[in-house]
This record gives sequence, structure tokens and C-alpha cells, in this order.
Amino acid sequence: ADPAFRSVRGRVLTFLAPPQGAGDEASYRYFVDGLVVVRDGRIAAVGEAAPLLATLPPGTPVDHYPDALILPGFIDPHIHFPQTQVIASYGTQLLEWLEKYTFVEEQRFADPAHAAEQAVFFFDELARNGTTTALAFCSVHPVSVDAYFAEAERRGMGMLGGKVMMDRNAPPALTDTAQRGYDETKALIVRWHGRGRQRVAITPRFAITSTAGQLAAAGALRREHPDLLVQTHLSENCAEIETVRRLFPEADGYLDVYDRFGLTGERSLFGHCIHLTEAERRRMAETGSVAVFCPTSNLFIGSGLFDMRKAVSETPAMRVAVATDVGGGTSFSMLRTLAEGYKVQQLLGYNWSALEAFYLATAGNAAALGLAGEIGTLEPGAFADLVVLDARATPVMANRMARIDGDLEAELFVLMTLGDDRAVRATYAAGRLVHARS
Ligand code: GUN
Ligand code: ZN
Repeated sequence: ADPAFRSVRGRVLTFLAPPQGAGDEASYRYFVDGLVVVRDGRIAAVGEAAPLLATLPPGTPVDHYPDALILPGFIDPHIHFPQTQVIASYGTQLLEWLEKYTFVEEQRFADPAHAAEQAVFFFDELARNGTTTALAFCSVHPVSVDAYFAEAERRGMGMLGGKVMMDRNAPPALTDTAQRGYDETKALIVRWHGRGRQRVAITPRFAITSTAGQLAAAGALRREHPDLLVQTHLSENCAEIETVRRLFPEADGYLDVYDRFGLTGERSLFGHCIHLTEAERRRMAETGSVAVFCPTSNLFIGSGLFDMRKAVSETPAMRVAVATDVGGGTSFSMLRTLAEGYKVQQLLGYNWSALEAFYLATAGNAAALGLAGEIGTLEPGAFADLVVLDARATPVMANRMARIDGDLEAELFVLMTLGDDRAVRATYAAGRLVHARS
């Protein structure tokens, strides 16, 4: 056998374009008995199993999941690496939640041993949930970023992330300065950006914890490294928005604070964006900035309801992504995340179809990260990052599926409504098995 080759067989689904609502069969490719052929960690071919099997070098392993659904691995474009032990912290909204729980926990990531131990947990959990790429906020400490990327590299997973820049309104143990945030991010770019599959993101936490001087430094980094992503938070909570107004009275609203420092644009991702004004949504769209919908977090911290229909139906349309936002978010599972997203849109009178939801969690999030064609798809040339899903994983799911006969969209909707880590049979990163359900 040629060790460069392997293959995965089952029902194969990959999206070609954003679905225009339920029933949009032109938006995806689906093979009932499909095969994904992997060569050197990338997808060499995808299609009907029978003809493709005949082309494989003799002895190529075939991992066969007869009843399962093979998709591109999920992508989580907004998650906090140092917050896995913050999940399920009781009783507060954003600003108090940060102070009382999060800023306490993140201080522990000054310790490289703690960061390394938590990185093992973090990537185990992503893999168990079928997530193969994440864009993460690390802590203010560069050692937290080193731990994050070192563990991702060890597993052959392609990750993005950055050191949080924060120079005010936080405990002294958790603040840098404008200069230090700049210098440390620069050093991390040299160390990690483009090393294998790893990519550094410029990460000012949010306008409340950065001075104008630090946001200017973040803008300078962006100008010097135009290929890097910028990630931050925007218009999540009403008290937060009021505080930003007080801190930046010269700005024309919250988004304008980032805009003034050159932090908007096609490579900028803004977590939450719940309370944007119409003018702000237009500015987001004009600049090509991405709004990241974090439903479990928005509900859990009591921040509000993100209106997907408004986002996508206005002209020009705002770019969107969907993410867990652990540890404000309550689950590592993108399936749980889509379920809560659906419920939020129900409250707003919009039927968010399973096709739109799974598109967003794969190809849509890839496009939001500027990685369309590299990840989030099973088309040849992409990394062989795969999730293998089982829509009969629990008694309730199996019982429901007994009433669904070959209807792909109905199955996807069962997966997102009832599924979680138990529905993930296996996860592959660059063609390597990184999780198999026991
Ligand atoms: N805004 C600034 N920092 C954070 C954070 O850690 N989580 C959430 N949900 N919002 C933020
Ligand atoms: Zn966040």
C-alpha cells in the first residue's frame, strides 16, 4: 500500500454555496455511498464510492461508516481557550461575569504547566465534538498561546488564535500595555504564524479593556500584517455598549471605535453583534466585516437575540459566522450551538433551515476565516478534516429517525436539534483519526 493514501466511506455531504433556505438542493453535493480519498492529509477526490475505490492504490485503507454522514469537520470561529473551567458559572451578565469568574480564571494561564494541561483538554474536547479548526482567544500571557499552538501542532490540527491584548479595566495580573501587547503579538507571529497549519490572529479583547493607544497598536499590527485576522467583541450587552460610549465619547458608536483604528474589514471577526444599529450593520457590510453569532453564550449570559434574517437579508448583506463562545457559551458542540441558534431565530420569526445551519458551521465559517477551499469543504485540495456523524446516537434520536426515510434535510435537523458529542462517531484532522467514539 502507498502510505500517502487512505479513504473514508459513507454518506458524504459537502456544501458548494450558501443555501437559499430549506430545499436548496443546488447548494450541496451528496453521495449516498460516497468516498473521500485522502492523499498526504489533503482530499484527493470525492464522489461515488464504487468508481473511486477502483482507482485507489492496492491496499489503501478504507474506513467504512455504512450508515453515518461524513461532512467537513466543524469550524468554531469564536472560542476562549482559557475559559473551559468557566463554563456554567452562575448568575451574572457580561461585565460582572468577566470580573467575577473569567478574569480570575484567566490569571491561571500565566503558568505554562496549567496552560499545557488545559490545552490537552481543550483539543480533546474539540475533537470529541467534531470541531477540527477553531479561532480562539488565548489569555494575555504569551505562554498560553504557545501552549495552544504547540498542542494543536502535536495533533496535526490547523488552529488560529492570539494573545488577548488588554491594558485597562482588568486586574493588574491580566493587563499588558499598548507597547507590550504589540511586541508580544509580533513575537508570536514570528513564532507561530504559518508554522504548519497554525495562524496567529490580532486579538484586542474589546474596547473596554483596551486604551486608544492599544487599539492604535492593534491597528498598526493589522497594517503591518494584512494577512492576519483580527478578532474582538462588539455590541454584546447593553451595559457594555454604554461603557464604551463613556470611554470613547468622540466615536460615533461602538463599531466606530474599531473602525477608527483600522480594525474593521474582510479579515475582521466581531463576536456577538447583537445590538448593532441599522447604520452599524450597513457599515459592517460595507467593510466586509464578519458578525459571529454565539447563541448559547448570548442566551446563557443573557445578552440578547442575534437577528440572522436582518443580517443576511439587508443590502448589502452582513457576513455572518456561528460559534460556541465557550466559556460564556455552554457547549463545545457545534450541534448544540446550531440547535440554540435555531431556537433564537424561531423567537424572531425566522426559520433557519438545517442546510443553512450546517453550511455555516462548515463552508460558511471557513469563508469567514478567509479559508474557503482550504477547510470546511470536501472538494479536492482541501485539508482532509472530517466529522463522521451518527443521527441514531441516542434512543430519542434513533426513535425519531425511524420516522424519517432517506430525507437528508430532516436527518440534519435531527442531528442539530438532538445531537451532541454522542453523535460524533469519528473526527479526522488532515486525514488522521483524532477521535473515535468508544
Ligand atoms: N467581551 C470581552 N471579553 C469577553 C469574553 O471573554 N466573553 C464574552 N462572551 N464577551 C466578552
Ligand atoms: Zn467571546
